[in-house]
Amino acid sequence: MLRRLELVDMDAAVLVYRTAFDHALPSLAGLHTPKEDQWFFRERVFRTCEAWGAFDGTAMIGMIAFRDDWIDQLYVLPKAQGRGVGTELLQVAQRCFDHLQLWTFQRNVRARSFYEARGFALIRETDGAGNEEKEPDALYRWTRSQVARGYNAAVQSKRYLATAASSQDNPSPWPRAVTVPSKTSMGSARMARPRSRTSSQCAVGVTASM
Ligand SMILES: CC(C)(COP(=O)(O)OP(=O)(O)OC[C@H]1O[C@@H](n2cnc3c(N)ncnc32)[C@H](O)[C@@H]1OP(=O)(O)O)[C@@H](O)C(=O)NCCC(=O)NCCS
Repeated sequence: MLRRLELVDMDAAVLVYRTAFDHALPSLAGLHTPKEDQWFFRERVFRTCEAWGAFDGTAMIGMIAFRDDWIDQLYVLPKAQGRGVGTELLQVAQRCFDHLQLWTFQRNVRARSFYEARGFALIRETDGAGNEEKEPDALYRWTRSQVARGYNAAVQSKRYLATAASSQDNPSPWPRAVTVPSKTSMGSARMARPRSRTSSQCAVGVTASM
């Protein structure tokens, strides 16, 4: 089951993040204390991103955090990997935006092949000088196909008509703009650059069972 995460879910999200990250990149493990991770997820990830979790019963097994055109976090517990959980979480973000970008470490071969198999194209690679870990990283970008974009526009247009018909006061079908405070990243290029967010509800209505 997928659902949107609340502030109270952030500690569980940290556990998923830390377990998956340390398993994938053990040489980079332990850069931050659990308390620092918790602060970062509550005060930065949750406040700047839309976060969704994948659950097996009540246990969180995967999480994604995304905002305007950027995926900031995508992690699945090692024991739950390879079962489609990451793909389903990624699709939540892909339903919301026509473009998505993300940073990943060059040596995270599994993550790179995961993204490449799902339409992400390599934009550029860095020597890691600009990230906290000083680890060479790679920027990927996904763009929705023209055909799918036309479909998406039609769906949004239907939503607009339905919303406009039911609202005299606010003719806009979208939530009012929300200005998000600038994000100070952990210093890592894994964390995408700060931008303001204009809609936080685009994935509402997405429910999926696994
Ligand atoms: C990358 C990640 C999010 C993918 O999630 P997932 O639930 O394993 O992905 P899915 O089951 O939907 O898809 C599996 C695909 O990913 C690849 N893959 C990546 N990691 C894998 C793993 N540990 N076990 C099996 N397959 C893995 C497989 O090759 C498979 O590719 P294919 O379907 O194109 O053949 C997950 O492996 C993960 O959390 N990795 C560690 C943290 C990480 O690197 N996050 C990304 C940071 S940018």
